[in-house]
Amino acid sequence: MAEQSSETKTSNAMWGGRFASGPAAVMEEINASIDFDKKLYAQDIRGSIAHATMLAEKGIISQADRQAIVEGLTTIRDEIEAGRFEFSRRLEDIHMNVESRLAALIGPAAGRLHTARSRNDQVALDFRLWVKEELQRTETALTGLIAAFLDRAEEHAETVMPGFTHLQTAQPVTFGHHCMAYVEMFGRDRQRVRHAMEHLDESPIGAAALAGTGFSIDRHMTAKALGFREPTRNSIDTVSDRDFALEFLSIASITAVHLSRLAEEIVIWSTPQFGFVRLSDAFSTGSSIMPQKKNPDAAELVRAKTGRINGSLIALLTVMKGLPLAYSKDMQEDKEQVFDAAESLELALAAMTGMVRDLSVSVERMKAAAGSGYSTATDLADWLVREAGLPFRDAHHVTGRAVAMAEAKGCDLASLSLEELQTLHPGITAGIFDVLSVEASVASRTSYGGTAPSEVRRQIAWWRARN
Ligand code: ARG
Repeated sequence: MAEQSSETKTSNAMWGGRFASGPAAVMEEINASIDFDKKLYAQDIRGSIAHATMLAEKGIISQADRQAIVEGLTTIRDEIEAGRFEFSRRLEDIHMNVESRLAALIGPAAGRLHTARSRNDQVALDFRLWVKEELQRTETALTGLIAAFLDRAEEHAETVMPGFTHLQTAQPVTFGHHCMAYVEMFGRDRQRVRHAMEHLDESPIGAAALAGTGFSIDRHMTAKALGFREPTRNSIDTVSDRDFALEFLSIASITAVHLSRLAEEIVIWSTPQFGFVRLSDAFSTGSSIMPQKKNPDAAELVRAKTGRINGSLIALLTVMKGLPLAYSKDMQEDKEQVFDAAESLELALAAMTGMVRDLSVSVERMKAAAGSGYSTATDLADWLVREAGLPFRDAHHVTGRAVAMAEAKGCDLASLSLEELQTLHPGITAGIFDVLSVEASVASRTSYGGTAPSEVRRQIAWWRARN
């Protein structure tokens, strides 16, 4: 702090030419982004090396200056990675911290690096590179989660459980099929990640402040050196655009929503009242007062992280809303939202993958629950349509009466006698008992995408070939 207050008296070394005095302390505080954008140091240095190399190739700076710049930047990267670099808030952001140190290391040649460039295209580049890498990490993490689900689905392709709508018992399904529903969800998230990587794959460097530059730069050269498909086409849009950050945050939000639905199911399933799954000790905690408890804290926290991640999306959408073109300093608020959401999402994906791999499934509890709640009523109605020729609506009515009869007797549908069922419709024969068990119900649902074990295995094979 002492260092800062004395330094505020002098104007900024990077842009202070027309300034007589330095910023107020609070100005420095609101303006500085170094506390968070130092995370972009590696991207900043990579970008600068590519830019300097292109400037030298085009004869805009000398090869000797390029060499000094590249060596200086490499030293700076080592200093940062060794924890030996002193970041200064007075120098605002990562770009000026690096450039200022470069000047100290190599002298006046450092001043040539910023030729034909502005911090506006520089930050757009650094941040894009970072988001691109984060999208790659997200893709890998999603692939890991999908793989965990494929293994569990294979193991439980025949395990029956109640399927729910309105969280009321609906029809029996297999646990493998339920797992594969999540594979579909996380598979779509991964597709969104891949699309975002394609959208983002354009290099902003060379847009300069907003209008491009009069120097004879080669934007295709820098794009290629930095691993982008091509340069962006419109320099005004380039420095105004944060769609790549918004896209990352919307993908992160949708993924987080999927994770929170899964987390909620794990919380419900692991209650003793359901008892469908047991979390491993590695992913649960005990209570300090109630010795019997095993709490699904990891699932709860995954569910809660969704709040932060969705909040980040809304925060950045709100920052960007109504901003005139081109760059405005408002846009500096983009990074913390993305960094925080990325950290939360990585953590949530890793925790969920661990939970899915580790949880033990109670096949008996699932099977017992699958048979309760008249879950095979639809099978009875379908049988009446198929074997007794009833229109579905009439079959539905007859089945409703069968359910009422079973309810009055306090038994399940399969426990009603043939005579009792025949009082509801004379066309009923003993063949009806073949469809009233949960296994028969599940095995019969062989329609494309249905819950029959044979169909679930086909879905697993389809995904294994793509994961
Ligand atoms: N720290 C700034 C940001 O994160 C870098 C760009 C600043 N550009 C400027 N013209 N002040 O957005």
